[in-house]
Order: sequence, then C-alpha cells, then structure tokens
Amino acid sequence: MKKVLVTGSDGMLGSEVIRHLRRRSDVTVVPSTLQTMDIADLASVKKTFERERPTHVIHCAAFTLVDTAEKEPLKAFMVNSEGTKNLAFFAAEHNTEIIYISTDYVFSGATGEGYVETEKPCPINVYGQSKLKGEEYLKTLLERHKIVRTSWLNGLGGVSTRNFIETMLRISENRNQLHVVNDQTGRPTFTFDLAPALVQLLDVKSYGVFHITGEGTCTWFEFARKIFEVAKRRVEIHAISSHQFRSLAERPLYSVLLNTRFEDMGLPTLPHWEDSLKEYFRRRRLAESVSRPENRAPSREARRAG
Ligand SMILES: NC(=O)c1ccc[n+]([C@@H]2O[C@H](COP(=O)([O-])OP(=O)(O)OC[C@H]3O[C@@H](n4cnc5c(N)ncnc54)[C@H](OP(=O)(O)O)[C@@H]3O)[C@@H](O)[C@H]2O)c1
Repeated sequence: MKKVLVTGSDGMLGSEVIRHLRRRSDVTVVPSTLQTMDIADLASVKKTFERERPTHVIHCAAFTLVDTAEKEPLKAFMVNSEGTKNLAFFAAEHNTEIIYISTDYVFSGATGEGYVETEKPCPINVYGQSKLKGEEYLKTLLERHKIVRTSWLNGLGGVSTRNFIETMLRISENRNQLHVVNDQTGRPTFTFDLAPALVQLLDVKSYGVFHITGEGTCTWFEFARKIFEVAKRRVEIHAISSHQFRSLAERPLYSVLLNTRFEDMGLPTLPHWEDSLKEYFRRRRLAESVSRPENRAPSREARRAG
C-alpha cells in the first residue's frame, strides 16, 4: 500500500493529481495545502511527515507567478527552492520518494532546439532559477527522486483557474482585437493528461529527470488562434514579438521539452495539444452545465421539503 502526500493539492495540477490518485485502491491519498502544510516552514513539514509518514510525495506546490517572482525573488526562492529542500530533507529521513514538478523555464530557450533530459539548464528568469535550485536540492539530499519537467500547463481544477486559455477567453470578452506573442515556442500540456502520467510514475523504479509534455509545438499566438477557433469566438488576433509585449520576466524563446526518457521506457505519450484543447472545452462545457442551478441535484433540505 502506498501513502501519497500531494503538496499544492488545491492548485491547478495538484487537484487533478488528487482526482486520479483517488481512483487507485492501493493508494492512501493525503492532500495538503498552504493552510495545512507551509512547505517553506521546516517545522510544518516535519510535523506533517511525522504524522502522516508518506511513502511518496507528489510535489505540485510552487510559487508560480513568473512576473511577480522578479519583484519578489525571496518569496519565489523560499517556496520553490527552500520548500523543496525541506521536503527532501524529511523524505530522506523517512525513506520517502518525491516526484517534483519542474518546468521548461529552467532552460534559456536560446538554442532553438528541443531539450532532452540530460541538457544543462540555464534559466533566464527568477522563477526558473528558483525551480532549478529546488531540483538541485532534491538531487543532493534524496536518492529516490523523480524530477518531472513540464510546460505551458492548462487545467480546469484548482481554487482559481489561472491559465492561458481562461486568460484569452476573459480578455476577449471586452475586446475584439488582441495582440499575442508569436516568437516564443513551447508545448502546451493539460493537467488531465499529465496527472495520470504522474500517478503511473509512482510504479516506475527509475529515478532522475523526466520530461513530460503534450505532443506538438506552437507559439502563444498559434495557441490563442486555436483557442478561439475551438471556442467558436470571432476575435481578431495580431502577432507581436516578445520585445513588443513588455513583461517583467524574460521568457525562453524555444523551450520545447523532448519526452525522450518516457518514450524510451515505453510509457504512453501524452496526446497532441490540439486534441487536448478540444477535450478541455468538452470538460469545460460539462462543468458549466453541471453548475447550472437547473441541473444541480436538489439539496437534502429541498428534497425533504419536496
Ligand atoms: N502553470 C504552468 O504553466 C507550469 C508550467 C510548468 C511547470 N509548472 C509547475 O507545475 C506545478 C503545478 O503548477 P500549477 O500551475 O498547478 O500551480 P498553482 O495552480 O499555482 O498551484 C500551486 C499551489 O501551491 C500552493 N503553494 C504556494 N506556496 C505554498 C507553500 N509555501 N506551501 C504549500 N503550498 C503552497 C498554492 O497555494 P496558494 O494558491 O494558496 O498560494 C497553490 O495551491 C508547479 O510546481 C509549477 O512550478 C507549472
């Protein structure tokens, strides 16, 4: 029997991981949020490990605001680097395995070629640096570690749905013309594809770095164009360069992660991002229809009254 502690369990990825773990009868799931365990607080992590004694951790908690991290580097490093160090320290003491979710932003994106797992990272923003430091602590402190780098995440779970698709839909409600960056290329990945792969990884007896992303590549502009096509929304979008779109954090121009190890091990690859985008909208519509008052199951009180 495995006992799996999930950090950031109310986040976009963490909530999907919880959903998939709950389908497994050989797993006891321990969700944890900032309120129940602050990973940046050593005492809080110690207490959780002593109480729960997990066999595995799927570590999804992170400071994920890429631009804010430039203004608040201490916060980014406290959560992404020190937080991961704290988990690694107690995992080593309790013989716990950690699956740590990392990012394509550990690479500079300057080579114009896809990255395999063995490539040397070279982050160009604070978020990427803080996530890489987390990787390094994990490698140093814990033998049984799996570092899963993924990219351009989208999902419907989490307390607040903060992803590129929802941002595009929200902005286009008030504007019929948008400008989207067309010189950054990556691989959109969907949490409902990644979460089952992470759960499957619990059973794999190899350690180290894994790249796991959706198939296919695109720029943010191409991604946006497809989003409006699938959503059947008429929006005029204009391609601009990263230079024209001023943001606090510099972002890699070509951060395509190649899923070499996963493929070599014969593990199932994730669907193409365009297929998953259609699936995203199918699930979104379903969630909307379930939340409509006329489709909600009557409460116990209402049933009694009726
Ligand atoms: N989103 C992407 O495009 C992307 C791309 C590549 C890799 N990743 C990685 O994938 C993982 C999941 O990302 P996501 O998009 O699901 O992030 P998310 O929705 O922002 O979830 C992260 C969660 O971590 C929690 N958290 C923050 N600080 C914490 C602390 N000190 N202790 C405990 N929990 C804390 C957050 O809680 P609050 O909301 O209460 O702060 C949030 O619930 C992260 O490791 C991220 O670096 C993300």
